Amino acid sequence: MLPNPSLRSAVATENVQITAAAGALVLARRVVVLTGAGMSAESGIPTFRDAGGIWSMFDPDEFATPRAFERDAGKVWRWYAERRRSMAGARPNAGHVALAALEARFAARGGSVTVVTQNIDGLHRAAGSRNVVAVHGDIHRTRCFDCRADGGEAGAHDASTVVPPRCPACGGRLRPDVVWFGEALPMAAVGRALRAIRACDVLVSVGTSGEVEPVASFPLRALEHRAVLIEINPAPTPLSAHADHVVRAGAATALPALVEACA
Ligand code: OAD
Repeated sequence: MLPNPSLRSAVATENVQITAAAGALVLARRVVVLTGAGMSAESGIPTFRDAGGIWSMFDPDEFATPRAFERDAGKVWRWYAERRRSMAGARPNAGHVALAALEARFAARGGSVTVVTQNIDGLHRAAGSRNVVAVHGDIHRTRCFDCRADGGEAGAHDASTVVPPRCPACGGRLRPDVVWFGEALPMAAVGRALRAIRACDVLVSVGTSGEVEPVASFPLRALEHRAVLIEINPAPTPLSAHADHVVRAGAATALPALVEACA
């Protein structure tokens, strides 16, 4: 029994939104799911801009720009190594698992689900999603700051006494293979993401504040050809006003409910 009438009515509203959003998914052939930090919040990985988020504790200018790395590469390397260690115990939540199931279901009937993620934690793949475009990179990989060569798994350098570790190709400084403020996104990933978005019938935006370009504008590309827009986020965002269906709930609750409702 739900404790009070206002909570009962909030749950009823979400159920109506989920049913309506599921109706759009049932009719779709190609779906894009755009995810942000909120997708992994219930896996224990903090978001950036919520209260207590990463950017409320750390200044991005000190840790997430090429200038910061040039100023003090060791400090930046150690900060990312610490974030990587703090993510090591994180497991995909029920939302990640539901998206992997949705992809398998669409693939079986000749459709597609593409996950375009800003997250660098690798949890979509860990949950079994295959069609994943990680537009902000991967914290578990490295590349050379100087020659851009692939530097392999970040964890393989944990025992290195040289910080940051050296590039096997040119002897330069290795960095995490993530996108920093002031840098362009990887072109191939953006191309893949935009191709999927231009062809989608439904775009589901999950757990992103929509404040960081160019990804913040990706959903607008889907609206240009009248794709249905679904937002899953406990809080309003600039995208909310454009969405056909808004589900004000966490990803680990809303996505399993949505996927079950369109089975
Ligand atoms: P933000 O921290 O800006 O936004 C997180 C969003 O998740 C907010 O809108 C929250 O309301 C929502 N949220 C919180 N808990 C949730 C839950 N359980 N389920 C669903 N949503 C929830 O994170 P991003 O939008 O991902 O870039 O930020 C974009 C980029 O800014 C990041 O990729 C990162 C950051 O600087 C780089 O590091 C390059």
